Amino acid sequence: MERTVYVNGDYVPEREAKISVFDRGFLFADGVYEVTSVLNGKLVDFAGHMRRLRRSLDELQMRMPCSEEELLQIHRKLVEVNAVAEGLVYMQITRGAADRDFTYPESATPTLVLFTQARPVIASPVAERGARVVTVEDLRWGRRDIKTVQLLYPSMAKMIAKGQGVDDAWLVQDGKITEGTSNNTYIVTADGTIVTRDLSHDILPGITRAAVLNCVRELQMKVEERAFSVEEALSAREAFSTSATGFVCPVVEIDGTVLGDGKPGPVARRLRQIYIEESLKSAI
Ligand code: PDD
Repeated sequence: MERTVYVNGDYVPEREAKISVFDRGFLFADGVYEVTSVLNGKLVDFAGHMRRLRRSLDELQMRMPCSEEELLQIHRKLVEVNAVAEGLVYMQITRGAADRDFTYPESATPTLVLFTQARPVIASPVAERGARVVTVEDLRWGRRDIKTVQLLYPSMAKMIAKGQGVDDAWLVQDGKITEGTSNNTYIVTADGTIVTRDLSHDILPGITRAAVLNCVRELQMKVEERAFSVEEALSAREAFSTSATGFVCPVVEIDGTVLGDGKPGPVARRLRQIYIEESLKSAI
């Protein structure tokens, strides 16, 4: 079935969707995006994604293309017309079309595009067996806290990982893990402390990260938000990542070193289960 996508006010079959060749998203990667997961036809943590969207837009002096309520209605309508029971909604916002110039145009109208992907998110073969990752130097720009559409380096890093026969790359700067190609990263130390990098310009403030850290604190598990080294990760008891596309995903191997018994660890499995249960309850 051909998908219906949303482009600047219209719901159209995907083959008919068009934007300008002068769109600054195309010419300058001058745009931001959000990915919201869908469970039982409902949106997971929509409010969190809206908060981060506003922040990304503010940082780039871009305006909201329409109200938050309208964005919610567009998300819901696309989920409905495309019959997405489980999957993802991608929302892309660029500064719009303007004659090519490095300065931001004064009066471009933002481009707003949304599309869906229907696919299993809960039942995940990778989460079942645990992901294998390799470390790759983090060569992205210095404002990774803004969720921009410039995803070429994460894409290259993912290809390096695929080329080595593993699932993903964990990115490294000055010997410390920043995050995965499209997820936040965690280790569990020998004394059971969950460690994840603290928020700064170096990483994206994950919406799943925030929700999972809330669970962790409610469960009174030990947690430290700080940078951790590759060596620390290699000797960790277990590891995992979080994202809207993977929820909580156990990691069982880093750079060929098997963690623990090579199976998804109890902390990651428990947090995955709790996160899914909570998301099913709170989705709107
Ligand atoms: N990626 N870090 C990076 C670099 C990411 O691209 C993402 C999300 C995350 C996790 O954020 P969240 O929990 O809000 O999904 C962390 C999305 C899912 C993607 O581009 O597919």
